[in-house]
Amino acid sequence: MAESTGGRAVFITGAAGGIGRVTVERFVAEGDRVALADLSLEAVQKVADEIRQSYPDADLLPLEVDVSSEESLKAARAAVEEWSGTLDVIALVGATVQAFGASVLELTTEEWDRVHNTNLRGVFFASRELVPLLPADSGASLVAVASYWGRSGHAFYSSYCTSKAGVISFVQCLAGELADKGIRVNAVAPGNINTGMHQAALASEAEERGISFEEMKAIEWAKIPLKVAGPPKSIADAIWFLASDNASYMTGATVDVNGGVIFV
Ligand SMILES: NC(=O)c1ccc[n+]([C@@H]2O[C@H](COP(=O)([O-])OP(=O)(O)OC[C@H]3O[C@@H](n4cnc5c(N)ncnc54)[C@H](O)[C@@H]3O)[C@@H](O)[C@H]2O)c1
Repeated sequence: MAESTGGRAVFITGAAGGIGRVTVERFVAEGDRVALADLSLEAVQKVADEIRQSYPDADLLPLEVDVSSEESLKAARAAVEEWSGTLDVIALVGATVQAFGASVLELTTEEWDRVHNTNLRGVFFASRELVPLLPADSGASLVAVASYWGRSGHAFYSSYCTSKAGVISFVQCLAGELADKGIRVNAVAPGNINTGMHQAALASEAEERGISFEEMKAIEWAKIPLKVAGPPKSIADAIWFLASDNASYMTGATVDVNGGVIFV
């Protein structure tokens, strides 16, 4: 049985999103203390307020953070140092999708950069700023969220796919750099997870094809061997596992949690 982690200080980006929010709750349920980072302070405060309804004693720090901004991450680091001094877990969940499908020949520089600035540079900036808060040889670790679309390239989504492939490579680089400090670095690569991001992607694809949302959902879910988009908790559980002592011999790994999609 997995051990409880209680009392660790955890920093989670994308904390107001579908997977991030459930991840916050997953750590809080174990008695951990959580800094909730996302673009909107109002959104993370709302998440914190809702979580306090079930966990009134939870130690939560809502933070407005844009991971594509070095200044924003420096400010987050200062706030975290004041709150906790050090961190035990960094979970980099926040990301953005390519706003529209476009061939490489048509994709704008602005859209390429927007996606990469959040999804890959954001992981780099957050790591560079926050990893110094992870104490050596104490079981501390970083977990980044990649994507099954980082495992393989998909036509018309080159900026998103390459940003997530970059995250998979990045965790290997950082894992190698931090191994002698006993700090582990891993990633989770979700498949289709039933969040706002997944529903927005289905809606935009449905519009492009001129079909209904339900028709689009049926087409996409039929391609998944397990036949449904996964619950956000499946990713939160994987993040929690990788950040726990149960994964003490795992570093540089990317764990696929995807209902089987990359095997078909
Ligand atoms: N939902 C899926 O099907 C799916 C599939 C594969 C991978 N993922 C990955 O899972 C993670 C979570 O996705 P989700 O489904 O919860 O999406 P979501 O859209 O519900 O949440 C993403 C969160 O990230 C935040 N965010 C975006 N840009 C940011 C920035 N610059 N700085 C800080 N926060 C920012 C958003 O505000 C949002 O709250 C992402 O890394 C995503 O790429 C999701």
